[in-house]
Amino acid sequence: MRAGSERTFNRDSAMIVTTKQLFDHAYGKYACGAYNINNAEQVMGLFHGNINSQAPFIIQLSKGARAYTDKRLLEAMIRAADEIFPDAIFAVHLDHGDEETCYDCIDSGFYSSVMIDASHESFDENIAITRRVVDRAHEKGISVEAELGMLGGVEEHVVVSEEEACLTNPEEAEEFVTRSGCDSLACAIGTSHGAYKFSGSQGLHFDVIEDIASRLPGFPLVMHGSSSVPPDEVERINAAGGALKGASGVQEDQITRASTMGVTKVNIDTDGRLVWCRVHREAFRDDPENFDLRPPGKIFMVEYAKYIEHKNQVLGSAGQLESLRESLSSAANA
Ligand code: 13P
Repeated sequence: MRAGSERTFNRDSAMIVTTKQLFDHAYGKYACGAYNINNAEQVMGLFHGNINSQAPFIIQLSKGARAYTDKRLLEAMIRAADEIFPDAIFAVHLDHGDEETCYDCIDSGFYSSVMIDASHESFDENIAITRRVVDRAHEKGISVEAELGMLGGVEEHVVVSEEEACLTNPEEAEEFVTRSGCDSLACAIGTSHGAYKFSGSQGLHFDVIEDIASRLPGFPLVMHGSSSVPPDEVERINAAGGALKGASGVQEDQITRASTMGVTKVNIDTDGRLVWCRVHREAFRDDPENFDLRPPGKIFMVEYAKYIEHKNQVLGSAGQLESLRESLSSAANA
């Protein structure tokens, strides 16, 4: 199965698709998990978890992840996983790109989707930058996610204080999508990046999601900052020597609700780091004589896969793989 004759990325992979293709299938029914990865153990856990739960997914590489070892190493691991798990269907996406990094990914021939994050610029400048990236990406059949509004919190090189953070204005969202030509829009709807999200009983602004979705029917919305920061995970980390005080995330029932309202991509990074932290803290605490990286690495791959399986149930993407495969194949044969 091929994604279409216009395709100019990932010529060697039949199963790497664009985020647009994933969203066409998911819209209004479920959301795809967009999981950030940095190393081999995360890649293996991620693919196992998605295959075990029969879910399509998005593998996200941030600027920081591309620089952590070497972008070529990270990309080679994904190419290898594509061979090891021939049944997987996924998109390869740049998370929070600036213009230069977007062009690097578009020209690499490997990414099927990029995010241009010019949300810190003025409305008109954000549109102008996004439009330039869209024009370059669409020439190669690559999808583009843009961002309007600003999430609070810390996401690698992006730091936004609570005072600077602002929800997406639905009226502006409509104009932004029309003028920029982007394929999906990351909206600020109450979440923030990192392990310290809400104070008190705050949650998602469903009124804002509803308003944006009604102005842009059928248009895929993206929710950043979607980690749930599971309390039991935080407790176990702290019991094994960690000091995560007051960490909290998005309630899972709210994620499920958003996934049927036009949110088709749900970004998760922090939760994966928490699993890594808990596994390693407990492993070295319980076996203080061990200095081998592989015993905790093996536990991590299993635990991360379990986390992904659970999250895909929450998103509704679990069990969608065959139906997606069929619709991609009828679109390719049409
Ligand atoms: P979390 O920090 O909630 O995992 O969000 C990650 C994210 O939005 C990456 O773009």
